[in-house]
Amino acid sequence: MTVMSAPSIDHPGRESQDAYAVSAEFYDLLQAERDEVRVRALYRDDVAGARVGVLDVGAGTGRVTLMSLLESRVPVHAVEPARCMRTPLMTRLASLSAELTTRVTVHPYALDEAGLRAVADVAVCHNTVACLRPTSRRALWHAVAEALVPTGALLVQLPPARLPRHETTRALPTRKIGRHEYGGSIMTSPDVDRIRARFDYWVRESGRVLRRHDETFWMWPASRTELIVELEEAGLVALPERRDPAVLAVRRAGP
Ligand SMILES: C[S@@+](CC[C@H](N)C(=O)[O-])C[C@H]1O[C@@H](n2cnc3c(N)ncnc32)[C@H](O)[C@@H]1O
Repeated sequence: MTVMSAPSIDHPGRESQDAYAVSAEFYDLLQAERDEVRVRALYRDDVAGARVGVLDVGAGTGRVTLMSLLESRVPVHAVEPARCMRTPLMTRLASLSAELTTRVTVHPYALDEAGLRAVADVAVCHNTVACLRPTSRRALWHAVAEALVPTGALLVQLPPARLPRHETTRALPTRKIGRHEYGGSIMTSPDVDRIRARFDYWVRESGRVLRRHDETFWMWPASRTELIVELEEAGLVALPERRDPAVLAVRRAGP
């Protein structure tokens, strides 16, 4: 049995280039099905209505990017700094027709280093903000405001509003690929002002564990009200509450 553990990311100012080095292998396998449905429900209508461009902030393996390409007719900008997540994103894009790939550009940077100006009227930031410490989060809002055209909208999936009281463990779905079964769990616990999220993965054959891996991420809680204040400081004003309160919509002021 091979037991490997990834280095924990203890004090990231921003996520390192090696972030997701362990999780990338399991990300689509264990989380894609559930998240695909969620992403469509949360953002499909918004990206379908885009007239200038769609910006996918923290594109990961490309779920929002792909949906944006298929549902819109405008250029799509996928911003993804972590090589390990960009690799499956590129593989996913490589399998598409040239008609689709001419419309997508992958920016291998954090958004505030990508230098994007007025490229989109719809920006989506799904499952990304929780992992940014407050200073990086604020830098992100200013970069989003610059990347949006006047009146452009940002849809952001809210991070946890507060620290959890106790340690909790949630099982990830299991998947069978050939002889092997893949699965894992996420353990979250409070740690001063942050949330420690440890992802444990396993691969089994006939009930025997072949290998285990783990990767730890840190999350910073922030309430909807706190985010609205931060976003306003960057010139992004809250829109009326959406059907799903997990997402906050804000708009860049007009010209
Ligand atoms: C948990 S993943 C989610 C990926 C994708 N949005 C999804 O839901 O499947 C968060 C992603 O955000 C990226 N990220 C972190 N900081 C970023 C920043 N400042 N700008 C753009 N992307 C960032 C990470 O590299 C990571 O791939």
